[in-house]
Amino acid sequence: MAEFSLPKNSKIQPGKHYPAKGAKNPRTFRIYRWSPDDGQNPRIDTYEVDLAACGPMVLDALLKIKNEIDPTLTLRRSCREGICGSCAMNIDGTNTLACTRAIEECAKGDVKIYPLPHMPVVKDLVPDLTHFYAQFASIKPWLRTQSPAPADKERLQSPEDRKKLDGLYECILCACCSTSCPSYWWNGDKYLGPAILLQAYRWIVDTRDEDTGARLDDLEDPFKLYRCHTIMNCARTCPKGLNPAKAIAEIKKLIVERRSP
Ligand code: SF4
Ligand code: F3S
Ligand code: FES
Repeated sequence: MAEFSLPKNSKIQPGKHYPAKGAKNPRTFRIYRWSPDDGQNPRIDTYEVDLAACGPMVLDALLKIKNEIDPTLTLRRSCREGICGSCAMNIDGTNTLACTRAIEECAKGDVKIYPLPHMPVVKDLVPDLTHFYAQFASIKPWLRTQSPAPADKERLQSPEDRKKLDGLYECILCACCSTSCPSYWWNGDKYLGPAILLQAYRWIVDTRDEDTGARLDDLEDPFKLYRCHTIMNCARTCPKGLNPAKAIAEIKKLIVERRSP
């Protein structure tokens, strides 16, 4: 990774409080900082933003800080409308998306911002999702079929069958749920966690998929699936309003049902 160093005459000082001089509506943001390049411990930097001259979302404030106060602040973002999942972070004690979290919804006082919990940090607010994506790949998240595809059309679904994907297809893989789950914190090496299990269920219930048995075989494992202990943080925190705990319960039910004669 290329090392970023501040120019010698830079006014930015790590750990410093940056007040917004002359602000009409100041709000303070306390932000986790850590860089792999300087050998220092993590710290909290404090920035004041004038909300009178800032967009309404936490991402607006973060970008204002990065553009106008401290260009070293590092975060991911892309769509700024809750679709790409890349701006997931812990804001005000909750895993959520910076682009859909309004500043005024944050509790009174300083707005505290940390990277998603219990993940290795690449830098500042950027978590390392390598393992998370490898777990996603492990469920083979695509339509698996044995029958030949129809010659002149797509594999079609009835509206009723399509409805079975509601509450699942909307998942943007932001990882807010998995990183809020204590079981995933302790056993994330082997437990797939709520996001990946919701995605697994999305393919299991897809009526066009022809590999349901193999998908269930693969999940019938004391760690991959059964480390879910119904703690429910996942459903509480999902910024898209989805319920991964329900998807996990449905997978467990299908495994029990197929054992019955
Ligand atoms: Fe994010 Fe919700 Fe999908 Fe979990 S279920 S990855 S919190 S969108
Ligand atoms: Fe974790 Fe959700 Fe289960 S928080 S333990 S995945 S219900
Ligand atoms: Fe895409 Fe926030 S920037 S979800």
